[in-house]
Amino acid sequence: MPITTCIFDAYGTLFDVAAAARQAAAEPEFPQLSDTWAELANHWRLKQLQYTWLRAITDAHTDFWEVTQNGLDWALEATGLDGDDRLRQRLLDLYWQLQAYPEVPTMLAALKAAGLNTAILSNGSPAMLDGAVQSAGIGDLLDDVLSVQSVGIFKPDARVYDLVGNRFGCAKDEVLFVSSNGWDAAAAAGYGFTTAWANRAGEPVDRLPWTPQHLLSDLTSIPDLAAG
Ligand code: LAC
Repeated sequence: MPITTCIFDAYGTLFDVAAAARQAAAEPEFPQLSDTWAELANHWRLKQLQYTWLRAITDAHTDFWEVTQNGLDWALEATGLDGDDRLRQRLLDLYWQLQAYPEVPTMLAALKAAGLNTAILSNGSPAMLDGAVQSAGIGDLLDDVLSVQSVGIFKPDARVYDLVGNRFGCAKDEVLFVSSNGWDAAAAAGYGFTTAWANRAGEPVDRLPWTPQHLLSDLTSIPDLAAG
């Protein structure tokens, strides 16, 4: 089946999750971040994701904003930066205004020009996603922003991927699902979507039972992939 619908993960795929720590590190008030911002960002992201998986398998769902804060608190302590409320608040504020990767607006505009459906499918809460979409200025290039909040469980539960067919009325094999998270791209391939893993960090392939069909280094070639 031809691709009719392109679905994007949000954090790490369209929006640069390291941007909050990188930007705070460039501000004169936070010299303590100059050597540690990358380690902090890495810990923050990994703990945030671990907490989503653990909450999904223990049936202890909560808002993605809560696990984002929990992950940050763990990361601040691990890097010896805990106890600085101003720094913590600045990092959280910046998470609502993450930059989109530079190729994102042009890539989405090409998909819309080709008549494809475009949407985000994310663990993020609707309010967080709204903040990121608005600050990146890409709202007009998306038909919808789908959040796990409506099903009350995090990725990679199949009920999350079901949101796409329910919204667009399309078959699984008409969907090109794009994520920079190897585990998300793999699970979506197992679900039945055609998937592209944007492996921005050059990581090894996840050892899981499913493999994404397309391996990319960024999102530039998505319109060509979708056109077949
Ligand atoms: C999301 C996370 C997994 O946006 O990046 O769903």
